[in-house]
Amino acid sequence: MSTQIAHVLEETRSFPPPPEFQRRARVQSREQYEEMYRRSVEDPDGFWGDIAQEFHWFKRWDRVLNPDNAPFFKWFEGGLTNISYNCLDRHLQGERRTKRAIIWEGEPGDTRTLTYEELHQEVCQFANCLKQLGLKKGDRVAIYMPMIPELPVAMLACARIGAVHSVIFGGFSANAIVDRVHDFQACMIITADGGWRRGHVVELKKAVDEALPKCPSVKNVVVVHRTAQDVTMEPGRDHWWHALMKDASPDCPAEELDAEHPLYILYTSGSTGKPKGILHTTGGYLVGTAATSKYVFDLRDEDVYWCTADIGWVTGHSYIVYGILAIGGTSLMYEGAPNHPHPGRFWEIIDKYQVNVFYTAPTAIRAFAKWGEKWPQQYSLESLRLLGTVGEPINPEAWIWYYKNIGRERCPIVDTWWQTETGMIMITTLPGAAPAKPGSAGLPFFGVDPAIVSEDGEEVDAGHSGLLVVRRPWPAMLRTLYGDDERFQEVYWSKYEQQGWYFTGDGAFRDQNGYFMIIGRIDDVINVSGHRLGTMEIESALVSSPLVAEAAVVGYPHDMKGQGICAFVSVPEGVDVHESDKEVLREHVAHEIGAIAKPDVIRFTEALPKTRSGKIMRRLLRDIAAGKDSHQDTTTLEDFSVLARLRESEES
Ligand code: WT7
Repeated sequence: MSTQIAHVLEETRSFPPPPEFQRRARVQSREQYEEMYRRSVEDPDGFWGDIAQEFHWFKRWDRVLNPDNAPFFKWFEGGLTNISYNCLDRHLQGERRTKRAIIWEGEPGDTRTLTYEELHQEVCQFANCLKQLGLKKGDRVAIYMPMIPELPVAMLACARIGAVHSVIFGGFSANAIVDRVHDFQACMIITADGGWRRGHVVELKKAVDEALPKCPSVKNVVVVHRTAQDVTMEPGRDHWWHALMKDASPDCPAEELDAEHPLYILYTSGSTGKPKGILHTTGGYLVGTAATSKYVFDLRDEDVYWCTADIGWVTGHSYIVYGILAIGGTSLMYEGAPNHPHPGRFWEIIDKYQVNVFYTAPTAIRAFAKWGEKWPQQYSLESLRLLGTVGEPINPEAWIWYYKNIGRERCPIVDTWWQTETGMIMITTLPGAAPAKPGSAGLPFFGVDPAIVSEDGEEVDAGHSGLLVVRRPWPAMLRTLYGDDERFQEVYWSKYEQQGWYFTGDGAFRDQNGYFMIIGRIDDVINVSGHRLGTMEIESALVSSPLVAEAAVVGYPHDMKGQGICAFVSVPEGVDVHESDKEVLREHVAHEIGAIAKPDVIRFTEALPKTRSGKIMRRLLRDIAAGKDSHQDTTTLEDFSVLARLRESEES
């Protein structure tokens, strides 16, 4: 950790907002930011209440924040609203009616544009289809789809009638569907025959079919016709989207929902146990994602905005769909891979649709850098005004590459720190307000009160690392872990229970200028390409193979992905392993969880190094994994016993 800090501290470069950007920005100076920030934390109810008033409420709230039953905070209690109404119906009066809500491009190059009016109509029709299939307020729906317009339509249709959606990333396997569907008892799955990825069909319906025998709660499956290969459709249970839509009425008033009505569940990995079902609700999430969309991306009405995330992750929920549509933005969606059919595809899309604001992840930026400057150089990229990044700490080299080659040294970059749990951007330097510093997320968003503290809750001095906490509630915060209030309290609120602070799980420090630098997770969670994976989940997947007795998974620094996955595997007595078994195990993990969780490196060992009390010496394994290029290693079983004995005193 310390070498990383030293590295970032040496980063003294600072990039003030270009004057022409600053002149038009919503927040134009550090002073203005400080003034607004001060007001937001002195009177948070006033601050958030004012933003909430810009939206439609069937009934106004009685109280902005109810902290009485902490950590089960309530926002906009007594209020009745609907996020689908706020993302659609609210824009139908006046000019936004014919404005583009979604611009979509499929990987094969097909495109589709939906104005607010058209999106509204399609959502209403699909909401009626859902009702016709018996779906009711409070019912849970799994969505397992490619990046096509029907995905946001399905989400907004659920939200419209008060059904709770849970989007499962299309890269996850059938087993991941089973686990999630079990956990939240979905009564329906919305999917597609497939999606396009790097010229191939990802067969989604096939994975659903594999999952369904183990999902007794699912009564109906709706299938979008996208890739057109043969799929099996079970009469009575499986329905084609287009067949249902054919006769569906476009008239479907939005349900008047309690501000705390559940909106969605999204699963994310923890260090122990099964993935956590993060629960987000309606009113506060609307206000938090809309406010950040407006200020962080500094969106104006004529902008075309593109976030490259998959909607299967929280970034897509908050900043492709809900936050952006809530403020009437134009959100671009692209279905496929960034390097198909060539590594310039993203830049081609930016020129084609004249994208103004572009939001992506460090792992993607590192891949672009590797593919070379010659790709972006072929495009004008003149429409771009602002760039963003999210998902993991960005290394200053990647930041500079992005600044020069994509922003052409004329676009500010917002480095946005947040989590699936926070629902909205929490730390980022507003683009017109203050200089950006490569590798630093920067300053807290309005109303957000982060701090860096020691194990016992003392705030640490500038330049010293500590644990990142958030000291007051914010509107888009998670409300609980679905069906597991106890784990919710334990994971996020027990560490600083007395103080009532939210524990993020991240290590961080603050520089003299008040900027936050996020170092990364301090628990056994690996951040692979900007997505969290629990070491424990991968270990469980590995030990379910007959080739594995025990497994220990650790992260190690990886040029492209940020962190790579290294698995130390001990083999059962009497089992012989060969080099080819590594691929067998990698495929096994892909089958259990999804390709994203495949270990980059597998190392077979006689036994895992353990302390006398039986704890696996993870720190030792982390050092070993980081220490050498193990891609070339052979299947030789490693003997850790000597090293383990040497280290034992340190670890126990
Ligand atoms: C974890 C959350 C929020 C959407 C994507 C990831 C890391 C996220 C940054 C950033 C440094 C970052 C943190 C955080 N992280 N953004 N700008 N700088 N680290 O969501 O899967 O919930 O992961 O990602 O470690 O805790 P997630």
